[in-house]
Amino acid sequence: MTEPEALAFDMYGTLVDPIRIWKRLEQYLPDEDALRVAEVWRQKQLEYTFRLTAMEKYEDFEWVTRNALDYALDAAGRELDADHKDALMAQYNNLERFADVEEGLERLKEAGHTMVVFSNGAPRMLDALMDAAGLRPYFQGFVSVDQVKAYKPSPKTYRRVAESLGRQIGEIRLVSSNPFDDIGAEAAGMQAAWVDRSGGLFDTLAPRPEMVVATLTELADTLEARAAR
Ligand code: LAC
Repeated sequence: MTEPEALAFDMYGTLVDPIRIWKRLEQYLPDEDALRVAEVWRQKQLEYTFRLTAMEKYEDFEWVTRNALDYALDAAGRELDADHKDALMAQYNNLERFADVEEGLERLKEAGHTMVVFSNGAPRMLDALMDAAGLRPYFQGFVSVDQVKAYKPSPKTYRRVAESLGRQIGEIRLVSSNPFDDIGAEAAGMQAAWVDRSGGLFDTLAPRPEMVVATLTELADTLEARAAR
């Protein structure tokens, strides 16, 4: 029997793949640019969230994502018309799920864990994505950082999840593939599981979480094994 935990799942990079949007970019850009633009888009998007939060300013994730796309296109020396950019933003709300997500979430739900999505995503984006990626059945709902008008890894964001779940922060485990998110959660007093989707490369800012898994099915195995001890 698994001891039920409260699990807060990161969205982008953990449940759905923001880099796979390069497949859509390929329709508008030369092949050699598509993947690079997708990568710079994601990097710049996160950089903007960090910078806004350091400046104590807030623009929602839709604004950030759109502006980061403009930067990524500029950096590649490319331009796209407004329709194509709108289509890419729409695609962002229909990103592909990682292959292990369905089985992993199914098993975790079956084991009785309390599960929410916890993301930088604007409520409108998360709402759309929960439906498009078929995530609704597994989660109680989502907590967007929009509620505190600050981005991860501000401790305010992690505290808000704890408040929403009505639990002590140390009783909650963040499940994230993003090292900055795992480190931020632990710094705020939360537990973390790193979903290693990058082949072992973790940030050198802090030790990796004690719990490291390659997939969500492995997370289900790990939590079961822990409960059996
Ligand atoms: C999120 C970003 C960090 O979903 O991927 O919050």
